[in-house]
Amino acid sequence: MQIIIYDNAQQVAQSAAQWVKELINKKPDPVLGLATGSTPISLYKELVAQYTAGQLSFKNVSTFNLDEYHQIDPANPQSYRSFMHQNLFKHVDIDTNNTSLPTCAVGENPRTQGLAYEQKIKQAGGIDLQILGIGGNGHIGFNEPTSSLSSRTRIKTLTQQTISDNSRLFKQGEVQPTMAMTMGIATIMDARYVVLMATGASKAQAVKEMITGGVSAMCPASALQMHENAIVLLDQAAASELGEKNYYQWANNENRKLIEDYGYFHNY
Ligand code: F6R
Repeated sequence: MQIIIYDNAQQVAQSAAQWVKELINKKPDPVLGLATGSTPISLYKELVAQYTAGQLSFKNVSTFNLDEYHQIDPANPQSYRSFMHQNLFKHVDIDTNNTSLPTCAVGENPRTQGLAYEQKIKQAGGIDLQILGIGGNGHIGFNEPTSSLSSRTRIKTLTQQTISDNSRLFKQGEVQPTMAMTMGIATIMDARYVVLMATGASKAQAVKEMITGGVSAMCPASALQMHENAIVLLDQAAASELGEKNYYQWANNENRKLIEDYGYFHNY
């Protein structure tokens, strides 16, 4: 894992945007894995700003989102399709035919839908760069604690903690779904690079467990310890429980020097 600690959430977003930009500029047909939630909103703002400034085009980009609520109408403002439309897709030149979420509409079979999503990712050539957030309980995507580390796209029942963490996003009287389709942990592990963003003190404990705890289904994000190219971008608050901050800082300075000498060695 490469752990990079920034002074604030804005710098985390700028750094994540830099990863996306590098991929888009490097690969003619980039495949980007996307996340929803509060954390990546500032990343999407940054990407929209760069697009508007003419520095970035999404024309050839395909995207796969991590998750979507079960049986939700895509037009529902609470759907992750709507989230992506509002925060990114409608502002940039992406072809929405090339944007996918793991949907399961009323009457569809979650198992068949999960298998089809896996197939679609494979057909696109696999995910080059997967953006992740982390839940307060260590989930990635909606892979809640106890999720199999070998899991693939499927339906999951959300934990009470996740339902209550996300209740802030629902107005009174709005139905909050309790089940979702999500990429599995093995699906995420297949991405060539993963960039996990975590900001705020409410993520500090989960971040500590992900980085310094044992690999365990009780902290699904800890599976990233087994990923060859996992980059963790933190603000000071999210990093506050970590004990080796000076080492991470030093290692990143050394990495920067290597990059200056040899260029980026990201291998998409
Ligand atoms: C969203 C997702 C979730 C979130 C996580 C953190 O697509 O897969 O794992 O990344 O719940 O959410 P926020 O950023 O709202 O704290």
